[in-house]
Amino acid sequence: MARTLTNILVTRGAGFIGSNFIRTMLKKNPNFSGRIINLDALTYAGNLKNVEDIEKEFGNESCRRYFFEYGDICDREKVESIFRKYNIDTVVHFAAESHVDRSILQPETFLKTNVMGTFTLLDCAKSYWQNREDVLFHHISTDEVYGTLDKNGFFTETTAYNPRSPYSASKASSDQLAMAYYCTHGLPVTLSNCSNNYGCYQFPEKFIPLMILNMMEGKKLPVYGDGKNIRDWLFVEDHNTAVWNIINNGRIGERYNIGGENEWENITLLNRLIDIVAQKSGLNADKLRNLIVYVKDRPGHDRRYAIDCSKIKTELGWRRSVSFEDGLAKTVEWYIENTDWVESVRSERYLAWTENNYKNRINE
Ligand code: NAD
Ligand code: TYD
Repeated sequence: MARTLTNILVTRGAGFIGSNFIRTMLKKNPNFSGRIINLDALTYAGNLKNVEDIEKEFGNESCRRYFFEYGDICDREKVESIFRKYNIDTVVHFAAESHVDRSILQPETFLKTNVMGTFTLLDCAKSYWQNREDVLFHHISTDEVYGTLDKNGFFTETTAYNPRSPYSASKASSDQLAMAYYCTHGLPVTLSNCSNNYGCYQFPEKFIPLMILNMMEGKKLPVYGDGKNIRDWLFVEDHNTAVWNIINNGRIGERYNIGGENEWENITLLNRLIDIVAQKSGLNADKLRNLIVYVKDRPGHDRRYAIDCSKIKTELGWRRSVSFEDGLAKTVEWYIENTDWVESVRSERYLAWTENNYKNRINE
């Protein structure tokens, strides 16, 4: 049966990937003519500035295709009212609380939002949709649920889950719950596990934006452990075109891995970033390199992530379209130019947190 795809509820659409999804759908996707309803609790990582351009262009009287609803996904009454008010037929669930370091220090919010929030959404979708088949619940997840790799091998869709941080454990639980609603209740569910994203609007606690901004401000560049941990990087827009492919043509009850086929050791990536920042800003690359400092490792730091994404390539014809060189250049330029945005997301609480995170690693 064809999917309706008319009224899409995007949870956490004021975050990094969610806001990019909304922008990509409304601005760049001629095949989507429906409405997007963005439900976000505006935590420290959520910012309406991330969707300001969308609100202006698609949330006004002459064009009403975008709606913002302030609220927590754990709030059942709120979620139910949104399903009714907008007659939701598709959910794209960007489960939140996404930073591993925070999950080590404050795991409770991860369990609440990622597990209970996902449960609430699934259960509301089940009740509202009854047994409709033209609807879809797409659950966004991470490759971190698969655990860690040594030098060889890749995560495939059949790799057993082995989460090792409170963050990945909470995501693994929510993934299993989504699949359980499909198996037990027949809820039309699809799931994707993606590698590390980068791009514009990413909250500057994550590796790439944190390093760019520290360079611009002459702050230390803290590298955890020996700097040889490996991540597979994907430009956020490529992630979202993959999600769009799955929403349209992915098979119900299936999971799809999404990756950049783009593995980098952290220290090699940092050196590359230094060259790009130096070139774009006029700062001296050698001076920037002097800012690198090796700090205490993250507990349980996964060594390597690498995704085998042949399933989505073969089955749905998806390909990444942005090269790492272009994506990094675009990202660096964006952070250098958008100082207003940077200031607006950096609350005092945020500054205190990053400062402490860094100091603790130096002192211990
Ligand atoms: P983010 O941290 O930038 O954004 C999180 C958003 O969720 C914010 O807008 C915040 O306000 C909102 N939020 C938090 N708690 C909420 C609640 N209880 N109710 C409603 N809204 C709430 O996250 P991100 O990096 O965009 O990640 C989005 C999703 O993608 C997550 O599921 C994450 O696990 C997954 N993912 C991220 C990456 C990555 O590299 N960033 C990689 C793979 C998968
Ligand atoms: P991060 O962006 O937090 O993503 P994830 O932990 O989900 O992969 O970190 C990416 C890599 O960079 C990870 O190996 C940890 C490392 N890292 C540092 O070396 N220094 C830092 O200050 C941060 C935030 C991360």
